[in-house]
Order: sequence, then C-alpha cells, then structure tokens
Amino acid sequence: MTDVILAKAKRKEELSLEEIATLLSITDPDELQALYDCAYFLKEQYVGKIAYFRGIIECSNLCMKDCYYCGIRKSNTNVERFLMNEDEIFKEAVWAFEAEYGSCVIQSGERQDEVYISMIERVVGRIKEATKGELGITLSLGEQTEETYARWKKAGASRYLLRIETTNPEIYARIHPADHSMEVRKECLAALRRTGYQVGTGVMMGLPGQTMEDLANDILFLKEIDIDMVGMGPYIPHGDTPMGQEIPAYTDEKKKEALQLGLKMIAVTRIVLRDINIAAATALQALEYTGREQGLLCGANVIMPNVTETDYRSKYQLYDNKPCTDENSSMCRGCLSGRIKGIGETVGFNERGDAPHFYKRMEK
Ligand code: 5AD
Ligand code: FES
Repeated sequence: MTDVILAKAKRKEELSLEEIATLLSITDPDELQALYDCAYFLKEQYVGKIAYFRGIIECSNLCMKDCYYCGIRKSNTNVERFLMNEDEIFKEAVWAFEAEYGSCVIQSGERQDEVYISMIERVVGRIKEATKGELGITLSLGEQTEETYARWKKAGASRYLLRIETTNPEIYARIHPADHSMEVRKECLAALRRTGYQVGTGVMMGLPGQTMEDLANDILFLKEIDIDMVGMGPYIPHGDTPMGQEIPAYTDEKKKEALQLGLKMIAVTRIVLRDINIAAATALQALEYTGREQGLLCGANVIMPNVTETDYRSKYQLYDNKPCTDENSSMCRGCLSGRIKGIGETVGFNERGDAPHFYKRMEK
C-alpha cells in the first residue's frame, strides 16, 4: 500500500489527505526506510545535498505570551529573564557572517512595544549595513502588526518564521490560553506574505491528542498557504509548564517514538511540498544526539547552529534537554560541519540558500 503511494510521490502526483496520513502512520522499519529514501530522492532533485546554516541568535526570553507548552511563557517564574542589548545582537550576527553562515535568525519571546520594535529595526539596519546586505536576516519574533513587519522588512530583514503550531482548532485552544488566537496567527502569516517576506511556518508534532490525520491536515495547510520555508519539531515537555506537568517526562521509548514522528513529518513534508526549505529542528537533537543529521537524511536541508553567547543559552529553554547550552558558537560550527560531512553532504557556506519555491512564486 505505501509503496504505491511512494511511487505516486516520485512521479510528482498529488497525494490525498488519506494518503498523507497513511505515510505518517508507517511503523514498519522497511517501509520507514522507503519513505525516508523517497524524501531524500526528492530533496536531491529539488534542493540538492547542501545543508544551509542559519545562525540563530536567541536575543531575549521576555515574553508577553503564556503558551501552556513553552518554557519561557510569561507565568514561568523560574526563568531568569534577559534582554541582549543592540551591540550584543549585532556582534553575534557579524560573528555568523564571518563564520560564513549565509544567514542569521533573530528569535525572542514576543513583545509588541515600540521600544522593542525600534530596537530590532535599528539592529537589523546595522547588520544589513555591516554585511553589505550579504547576510540573510530572518526574524522569528512572533505576532506583530503589518506595519511592524513592514518596518523590519524595510530595515533589511527578508525572511520571517512564525509557526502556526497546529491547525486543529481544538488542539490549538487546549494548548493556549483563551486570548491566544489561531485566526490572528493566520492573519499574521497573510500579512507577512503581503509584506513580501519569504515566509516560514510549521507545527509541533506529538502534541497530546494529535492524530496522523491532524498532521496530514497540517501539511496540506502548508501547501495551501504556499509556504517557502518550514520549521517544525517534536513537542518536548518542559517541567515548569502546565502541559509539561501533566505529562510524565519522556522515557527512552517515548523519545524514540517522538523522534520517529518528527522524521516522518519532515519526510512527508518534503514529498508533498518538494522545493521548499525545511529545517532540521534543534528539538530533534533533544531526543537523540544525531537527531538533526537524521532530519537532513529524511529531507530537511537547513540547520540552525546556535550563535548565542553561551551565558544566555540556558535561559532560553523552550523545552527540557535543549542541546548546546554549554557550548560556544565556534564549537557548534565545528561540530555541525563535521556531522554534515559525516553524512556525505556539504555545508552551503556563504550562500543564502533561498528556497527555489520562493523564486518560482516570484515568477508567477
Ligand atoms: N517543545 C517543542 N517545541 C516548543 N516550542 C515552544 N515550546 C516547545 C516545546 N515544549 C516551539 C514552538 C515555537 C518555537 C519557537 O518553539 O513551536 O513556535
Ligand atoms: Fe552545538 Fe554540536 S551543535 S555542540
């Protein structure tokens, strides 16, 4: 049954919701390998065997949101809050540029006040100027007004990541407080598109009550909104969150299962969307040391080495067992470059690595 679906995928035929859910339900080791191989085959054809580095700067854990799963939610009083200053953010972006990363990602908890908005605007402008516009600047700073998105774009950002988290409204409502809205999130994604960004979104997999059909719908949503980039990862409990307290810490068995689901989602997303960029989320490595390379072998083509100053890393724990909190940026560069070589791929140093999909969309 699944070989028929995979043959269809290789012929680039559209897959139905049922077929996508069937692929996501695979557990047989041989069928799993066939799924991963099919995804890798399509990855090679559409985006090549190059892994692009995006140096991620986690510039602040101050957050006005209170998502029930996230370790830096505003009600978590066990977090020591920090905010990098402009110079620190700038320095880390320049480090990424000098380390030959094609782009950087500036991520933080959500803040919508003018002080923060203008600080980001200034620092984006400074990074653009210092790197002569060569370093791709991606922002991952949550829900904002269209005007704010436009200001940051004008300052020099070209890509924006904003995960939808899940497209099942019941699950969305269960994992967020009542004043967090999926509709607002969707409007933000539409605003980002109108503003001219390359837009990335994604979901968490393995959420309580989430079915394979939900995840298949998530993939079809990504397709429907014609996304350029996908960043998705396994949900991992954080002990200081309401959801994390309801779920017992992951056993080794559970970690394996969560990793497998994460890899299957990457593979099926590559099969369905083909020419987009897909990140091997850091959360994969929280489940198994080689999780991120496995992600690349299942169809991902982007990796986000941490370029945040080591002292801040442990304060930015969205989930438990976050990797690389004791390492520094050079260590992560060496480590990840070696691991990518180890799986027979090359790193796209000094390349921005825009998704072919984005250019195709621009031609339309
Ligand atoms: N497990 C996995 N991913 C998480 N995120 C937040 N909390 C967790 C968690 N406990 C993800 C969300 C968010 C991104 C920045 O981090 O999907 O969009
Ligand atoms: Fe950070 Fe390996 S990627 S230490």
